[in-house]
Amino acid sequence: MLTAKEIRESFKAFFESKGHQIVPSAPMVIKDDPTLMFTNAGMNQFKDIILGNHPAKHRRVADSQKCLRVSGKHNDLEEVGHDTYHHTMFEMLGNWSFGDYFKKEAIEWAWEYLVTVLKLDPNRLYATVFEGSSSDGLERDNEAAAIWGQFLPADRIINGNRHDNFWEMGDTGPCGPCSEIHIDLRSEKERKAVDALTLVNKSHPQVIEIWNLVFMQYNRKADGSLEALPARVIDTGMGFERLCMALQGKTSNYDTDVFQPILKEIAKMAGTQYGLNTQNDIAMRVIADHIRTISFSITDGQLPSNAKAGYVIRRILRRAVRYGYTFLNQKSAFMYKLLPVLIDNMGDAYPELIAQKELIEKVIKEEEESFLRTLETGIRLLDKAIVDVRAEGKDSISGKDAFVLYDTFGFPLDLTELILRENGLTVDINEFNTEMKKQKERARHAATIETGDWITLKEGSSEFVGYDYTEYEVKILRYRQIKQKNQILYQLVLDQTPFYAESGGQVGDTGVIVSEFETIDIIDTKKENNLSVHITKTLPKHLDAPMMACVNTDKRTASAANHSATHLLDQALREVLGDHVEQKGSLVTPDSLRFDFSHFQKVTNEEIRQIEHLVNARIRQNIPLKEYRNIPIAEGKELGAIALFGEKYGDEVRVIAFGSSVEFCGGIHVTATGNIGMMKIISESSVAAGVRRIEAYTGVKVEDMLDSIQDTLTELKSLFNNVPDLSSTIHKFIEENA
Ligand code: SER
Repeated sequence: MLTAKEIRESFKAFFESKGHQIVPSAPMVIKDDPTLMFTNAGMNQFKDIILGNHPAKHRRVADSQKCLRVSGKHNDLEEVGHDTYHHTMFEMLGNWSFGDYFKKEAIEWAWEYLVTVLKLDPNRLYATVFEGSSSDGLERDNEAAAIWGQFLPADRIINGNRHDNFWEMGDTGPCGPCSEIHIDLRSEKERKAVDALTLVNKSHPQVIEIWNLVFMQYNRKADGSLEALPARVIDTGMGFERLCMALQGKTSNYDTDVFQPILKEIAKMAGTQYGLNTQNDIAMRVIADHIRTISFSITDGQLPSNAKAGYVIRRILRRAVRYGYTFLNQKSAFMYKLLPVLIDNMGDAYPELIAQKELIEKVIKEEEESFLRTLETGIRLLDKAIVDVRAEGKDSISGKDAFVLYDTFGFPLDLTELILRENGLTVDINEFNTEMKKQKERARHAATIETGDWITLKEGSSEFVGYDYTEYEVKILRYRQIKQKNQILYQLVLDQTPFYAESGGQVGDTGVIVSEFETIDIIDTKKENNLSVHITKTLPKHLDAPMMACVNTDKRTASAANHSATHLLDQALREVLGDHVEQKGSLVTPDSLRFDFSHFQKVTNEEIRQIEHLVNARIRQNIPLKEYRNIPIAEGKELGAIALFGEKYGDEVRVIAFGSSVEFCGGIHVTATGNIGMMKIISESSVAAGVRRIEAYTGVKVEDMLDSIQDTLTELKSLFNNVPDLSSTIHKFIEENA
């Protein structure tokens, strides 16, 4: 029997033999795409190529990609654990062709790999093809059906509708028909009794889709119409865990060697066994699935928190804790104890787990403990609601109450229902669903950006010249209108641009573009699928006119000082606190800098003073910038730059060095450290267990310094006022601060 590891490797080897470049998985947490929080398909990391923003370096590519489907268009969270084949995090095996091969090879190789290489029984395989759509004016995908006809009898090539067999990246953009391969894993007896043809795409746990072959050949425009894509794309995605189930002769993903060791450990902790009791099994599956998601999110830089992606992760963790609490009697933190078995199982393929074990454990443990306290409050609230409805003589609690429990206290509806059932009560499900719908609407509304079609004025690609210039003569290549929170804005793409687009923690440049006719403010510069877009409130009237793009240099210079200071701070932190310090997040603006890093206790005042001292000494040394552009990543590592987990690096990188501070970085920097002026740390706090945050100013203005001296004097005054014995206070103060 092939192990999971062997299966992953065999996929890569097969496509390598077909001329594909094997690339690493991109991080699961996405940082530079406003439309997506997590990687939800293998194609995400190739969006810029598919959209035509950048040429493909390799026309054939294959990989295994860590994916997470818990928010947005693809969201499987509620199913996870209840069935045996959905996951939050999963691995997607994929192969791509960017303007190279198309349907014929994609289908033939898929068949060859499954049947000839992996020896899956061809009689258990089914293919679906797009049935066509009159509203889009598209015929059935007869081309794909004919290719499948070489391998499958006509009745096992099944028509599928637009929902199942037409893949779209979003509301607009590249799309096309797709063809899914389904497999029937039922026993011979069951197969004889019910024909699998009636079960394909009907949510049967053993008649499931394993591979989706997408043939992107259209571009969906904002008005809903389709146009042909200039370069056609193949994008395939196969569920790795499902493939393991098929190959290991199992009927549940959770019975494979991907999950069994984790399930055994959970069962051991709970003093039970997997497979004895339905409810407990669901809980164990939830926990086994979620521990992977949470651990990998943390390694990729996303900690549980109160907002956005962090909140998604927090809720997943709470879901698991809650199942453990209710069904497996885990009343104290337990999830973090699963790390060793997860690492045994996946550490080889994903060494980031090993490197960050201590941090992952600490973060999970603290989150668990704080949620367990909330959980108890929630249970008390529910108890009170039960007493209240009984007193009112009713037999159900309101859907609104159930929703508050769900939303604030992490009680999924099934838990609330269970507790109520034990008390002979029910919940108003309709009202709960209405509240849930309202919340989803709110979330969708907040996130919605309506984008118009790109209007192309001039073909060509955009080049960043901002490392060398802050003013440059430019032309507009294309533009579009967007609507965000009821505000109409425009995005402009320039042929060359000195504007730095927000990335790597540094905010985007602002400034103006000026022609002989008009001056237009650039209010922000962002990256969308690797394309720099300049955001304006008005559209230039003379779109073809030559223009000067001028960056606001006051702000740019201030950002550069803060960015370079961030590097010196990072270096000083490691020197003072130790090598375990790793960057966990950073924000560089013209006004200040913020740096998050792994460290397990509060940074003391003395340490802060040492760190400031080191940074300011290096600022005074006026160390010149050494910039290495477009060097191979291996060369960057030799220079001493440390690659961060959760960052995606190309084959060629930029390295920024100030003496012995060496970092991979695409940001804007001062030409010598003296230009930073000085750095003053203004706060040190905790972001999560094991992660600290420092905020600092650079080039501190005299008035700020006076303010800070004033604050210290006020503090001293209150200290003296409150303590009658002045001399002992002074002695104590001197001892603590000398
Ligand atoms: N993008 C397609 C999917 O997510 C195939 O990779 O299913």
